[in-house]
Amino acid sequence: MITLLIATNRPESNSAKVAAHVVEIYAEKGVPLHVLDLHTLPPEIFSPSSYATKPAAFGPFQDAISTATGLVVVMPEYNGGFPGVFKYFVDMLKFPESFVGKPFAFVGLSAGLGGAGRPIAQFQVLVTYLQGVLYPASVFIPGIYGHLDETGRLKTPELIERIGKQAEGFAKFVQRFA
Ligand SMILES: Cc1cc2nc3c(=O)[nH]c(=O)nc-3n(C[C@H](O)[C@H](O)[C@H](O)COP(=O)(O)O)c2cc1C
Repeated sequence: MITLLIATNRPESNSAKVAAHVVEIYAEKGVPLHVLDLHTLPPEIFSPSSYATKPAAFGPFQDAISTATGLVVVMPEYNGGFPGVFKYFVDMLKFPESFVGKPFAFVGLSAGLGGAGRPIAQFQVLVTYLQGVLYPASVFIPGIYGHLDETGRLKTPELIERIGKQAEGFAKFVQRFA
C-alpha cells in the first residue's frame, strides 16, 4: 500500500487538511493510502536515547515506511526548507534500508509564493542519497490560505485536477517498482 506522510507535527496543520483531500482523490481512483501524521509521533521518540534504542511506540511508523510500496509526502514550507521534525523522523528510521527502491511523490504547500518548491527540492536530495526513487511530477500549492474552504478542503479545481493526474501517474509508477 502507498503511505502518505504528513511532513509536520504542527497542530491544525494545513498539510493535514490537504492530505485528507489527497486521500479522497486517490480513493476515487481506487488507490487507498495509509496516512502517517508526524503529529501523532510518540513523545518518547524525542528523547536523545532514541538514536540508540527506538521506543516500541515508534514501531508502527517504521513499519508504515518499510512496508510501503510508495510514499506520497505532503510537504509544508518552513523558513525556506522542510520542517525540522521531518528530518528528525527520517533520522529515526532504519538506515540504510528504509527508502531503498521506494518511489516518492510530493505535494507541497506554503503561505507565500514558493509552494514548497524549495523544501521539496531539498528533500529530494536526501531521497536520492537514501536510494529512493523520485516521481518527476510534484504539485506545488503557493498561497495555501486562499485555496482552502471553511471545512479545510481544497477549493481550487485546477489544483484538485493536478493532484488527480499525479495520483493516476504515481499509482502506475509505483507498480513498476513492486
Ligand atoms: C515555522 C514556520 C515557518 C514558515 N516559513 C515559511 C516560509 O519560509 N515561506 C512561506 O511561504 N511560508 C512559511 N510559513 C507558512 C507556512 O508555509 C504555512 O503556514 C503552511 O500552512 C504551513 O503548513 P502547516 O499548516 O501544515 O504547518 C511558515 C510557517 C511556520 C509554522
